[in-house]
Amino acid sequence: MSEVVARLDGITKSFLGVPVLRGVDLELRAGEVHALMGENGAGKSTLLKVLAGVHRPDSGRILLGGNEVSFATPRDAQAAGIAIIHQELNLLPHRTVAENVFLGREPVRRGQVDRRAMVAETRRLLDWLGEDGIDPEAGVVRLPVAQRQVVEIVKALSADARVLAMDEPTAALADHEVELLYDLVARLRDRGMAILYVSHRMREVFDLSQRITVLKDGAFVTCSPTEELTSDQLVRHMVGRPLDALYPERPTEPGEVRISLRDAGNDRVRDLTFDVRAGEIVGLAGLQGSGRSAIARAIWGVEPFTAGVLERDGEPVRIPNPRTAVRKGIGYVTEDRKGEGLALRQSVRDNALLVRRAALRGQAARRASDLAALLKSVNVVAQGPHQEVRYLSGGNQQKVVLGKWLAVRPNVLIVDEPTRGIDVGAKQAVYQLLRDLAADGMAILMISSELPELIGMSDRILVMHEGAIAGALPAGASEEAVMGLATGHGIGEVA
Ligand SMILES: Nc1ncnc2c1ncn2[C@@H]1O[C@H](COP(=O)(O)OP(=O)(O)OP(=O)(O)O)[C@@H](O)[C@H]1O
Ligand SMILES: [Mg+2]
Repeated sequence: MSEVVARLDGITKSFLGVPVLRGVDLELRAGEVHALMGENGAGKSTLLKVLAGVHRPDSGRILLGGNEVSFATPRDAQAAGIAIIHQELNLLPHRTVAENVFLGREPVRRGQVDRRAMVAETRRLLDWLGEDGIDPEAGVVRLPVAQRQVVEIVKALSADARVLAMDEPTAALADHEVELLYDLVARLRDRGMAILYVSHRMREVFDLSQRITVLKDGAFVTCSPTEELTSDQLVRHMVGRPLDALYPERPTEPGEVRISLRDAGNDRVRDLTFDVRAGEIVGLAGLQGSGRSAIARAIWGVEPFTAGVLERDGEPVRIPNPRTAVRKGIGYVTEDRKGEGLALRQSVRDNALLVRRAALRGQAARRASDLAALLKSVNVVAQGPHQEVRYLSGGNQQKVVLGKWLAVRPNVLIVDEPTRGIDVGAKQAVYQLLRDLAADGMAILMISSELPELIGMSDRILVMHEGAIAGALPAGASEEAVMGLATGHGIGEVA
């Protein structure tokens, strides 16, 4: 059996008297990927932060190579060989790769920052990772998300890192980028690094990990070799009960056309012709950059269509900006919750009411009891409506984003990666919620990079390729059929 590199022993942690970790044990071994799973708010990120010196445990011990250690700062943990990739990426977009890697610990030579050493060391680390395609002097803003993540990893690795903890590293990646990350993780593992890996994607956890630990409500539930667990058993450990079918049944006939595009286009997309009807969930598939989000942004007036016709309930309309979109009853749950979706320093309540205030300026805000019902309908777990959103777990932040749109009761809803970072139980709740909203007469356009989800939820799938619709597929199409169209091969089945 391989060597134990790090051990967490009976870790407890409370915030303002609320226990978040209750005596958690964890063992990380050289050359092993150890997956950490649990529902939103179970304490996964908090445990990683304890390991990485961001939080001090209230009690319990951290052992490295058999010796007890304690970290006053993240820098201490890094120096001791622990690298962590946090749930949200934290790079400065307008600095170069090398500047980000050495932020706050720039090498100095004769009183000056030694740029040449910075670039050389960054290049050495990139080479070591087998990522020599990234230029240390490139601006981060120009890199795709997958490469930014590699930069995060380089930044976190110190000269002799032995532990790498990754918090939902694939949540922001497109499918083909996920493959690249898998490769990288496997390479690091094979070089003897101990990897702690948090993810809500079952398939990923079963593909990558050798061992799985489950937390529930801050407590240790089980630790087991991956090959001895089935996904049903894993879900039961996480949720505490077996789950019903993940995807709700599809209803019968859709209603009238809510939104209709005729040869619509702009700089990014072209020749778009399709309808979305009341009661329908239409899926938009495609590779990163194929134009899925561009369609959403065009309908919503961020980058409006410049060609063709957009009709709302049968009437041609122009939507030059998002405020007009909101007034016309169109909601948009963005894929970038940190950048566009949430005001992190405001309360759950203020966030939930944000859109409604913008839409109905001057009118009284929704009553607190309605708000409670709204947040309950999306299952937000928070200490209360006044808690600041930045302290919610990642999945609960996503639920607040959904909730804030429901407050204005749109009848067209565009959702872009709606379940990113959400646990299985909450995913099922979101799927049911979207289905119920559709059954209530909403027309829903759904973008997702998780193919099983897109196929499981959509009544019809439009597949984008290089800015145009490559074809349409019926409900229950195969992943191969979707990928065929997305990569420019294959043909569609329905118009
Ligand atoms: N700095 C903080 N102050 C107060 N409460 C916090 C703080 N950090 C985390 N919490 C609370 O601790 C609990 C666990 O949060 P944590 O982020 O560890 O969950 P998680 O398992 O990573 O969830 P997710 O899957 O949604 O990312 C949550 O209820 C969260 O609101
Ligand atoms: Mg988390």
